[in-house]
Amino acid sequence: MRAKQFWAAITAHITIEDSIWVNGILSPREASLFWRMNLPDQQHAIRVAKSAIALATRVRGDVDTELLLRGALLHDVGKVYGDVSTADKVLTVIGHKFAPRMMRSWGREGRGSRIDNLRHACYVYFHHPRRSAEFLQGIGAEEELVEIVLHHHEPMAHGERIELTLLRQADEMH
Ligand SMILES: [Fe+2]
Ligand SMILES: [Fe+2]
Repeated sequence: MRAKQFWAAITAHITIEDSIWVNGILSPREASLFWRMNLPDQQHAIRVAKSAIALATRVRGDVDTELLLRGALLHDVGKVYGDVSTADKVLTVIGHKFAPRMMRSWGREGRGSRIDNLRHACYVYFHHPRRSAEFLQGIGAEEELVEIVLHHHEPMAHGERIELTLLRQADEMH
């Protein structure tokens, strides 16, 4: 995790205007997933959504801005508040740097003992796109939304939706 991200996590806050904006875009069930995230992740998602919309204005051709905004706000909902401690998050990021493949296979869902929690942190870190997509499927989200959330950390694929490309670009900016 870069110093900038640490600073962002410590100083994270959401304005009333932003929370009204989010609730105006998302359905009540989607919003409940959004507000279940950690505050820094909520703030990250808001920034990604705003950048994604700014990027969309430079695209020639049709962009489904509603899908893009919802995808951006919901892409990390697999990261749930209280699920992963800051210490475990830091250890996971360090592990990812030095032994990414080992960390990926070591991750396991489910909190419990100290070690279980660390394995859970690894699981969330590596598998949050799938987890986010499953949460969205669970509330009956449409296929397009589930799809762009599921693939947001994968390399760009030929023929993918423009909303996915824009979401990935915006995510990399924050
Ligand atoms: Fe993500
Ligand atoms: Fe993200």
